[in-house]
Amino acid sequence: MPDGPKPPPGAARIVDLLDAGQEHLAGSVEQPRREAALLLGEVLGLAEAQLYARADDDVPEQAAVSYGQLVRRRADRVPMAYLLGRREFYGRTFAVDPRVLIPRPETEHLVESALNCIGDGAWVLDVGTGSGCIAVTLALERPDSRIVATDLSPGALAVAAANCREHGVGDRVRLVRADLLAALRPGVFDVVVSNPPYVDVGEWPSLMPEIRDHEPPEALFAGDGLAFYRRLFAAGSFLHAGQRLLVEIGKGQLDAARELAEQGGFEEEWVVADLAGIPRVLGLTGS
Ligand SMILES: C[S@@+](CC[C@H](N)C(=O)[O-])C[C@H]1O[C@@H](n2cnc3c(N)ncnc32)[C@H](O)[C@@H]1O
Repeated sequence: MPDGPKPPPGAARIVDLLDAGQEHLAGSVEQPRREAALLLGEVLGLAEAQLYARADDDVPEQAAVSYGQLVRRRADRVPMAYLLGRREFYGRTFAVDPRVLIPRPETEHLVESALNCIGDGAWVLDVGTGSGCIAVTLALERPDSRIVATDLSPGALAVAAANCREHGVGDRVRLVRADLLAALRPGVFDVVVSNPPYVDVGEWPSLMPEIRDHEPPEALFAGDGLAFYRRLFAAGSFLHAGQRLLVEIGKGQLDAARELAEQGGFEEEWVVADLAGIPRVLGLTGS
């Protein structure tokens, strides 16, 4: 296995592969042992505790090869979620691949806020749905609601469609390829949610390699970071009086996002901070 984890010669035992994987990942990731165990567990279909209980078991050669490939890719800083093909969000598992942003825990605050204002039979729009994690969660948590979810990326819409099917909401979430709000009728939606791209392109060099080199740029970057909000808030007449717009915002963007929202004719209803105290959700009402 050139350039990969090197277990001792002969049949490799679980513990040998864990040691070799840990050694290979050291210097690349923060928790090399833990991540090696996650990858070996994935290949063998075993939980971490089971790996240690069976530490002396031999690993079939093909499984050892697959594990070696995963370890090499992780050492190249491919995100664990892409290697496993899944990520937890709001207590459920979503399929992910490099066509979509990996759902973030802070986006659960956006979901919480949306749930607080989705009434019976509400029409909800999720702009920039990516993996569909927000749309699917809202559909499952509010079974009476009707959801439309848009994205500009066909790849993202394919992943979202798979997640909708997997979670049994394929008939309740309508996926639409659209640039922002284009092709959608104004005044229809009671609640519009969006976790848009909001990273300043100037931050590209300072991002972690997992994000910078592997997540889709169209899901991350928005000019100076505010470009998406500028367009979204300028389309203020899309929402009638009383209809809600909830957006996730990036660290340090609250003041600028507020100002743009005000210019677009929105009234600010609330701001929700994440667990680190960073303002993350801006709740607005159309006027
Ligand atoms: C930050 S990701 C959010 C994905 C998902 N909603 C989440 O919270 O994990 C932003 C998404 O917006 C999409 N997007 C970017 N520009 C867009 C546009 N002009 N119109 C619609 N979607 C867009 C990207 O393809 C990406 O899937």
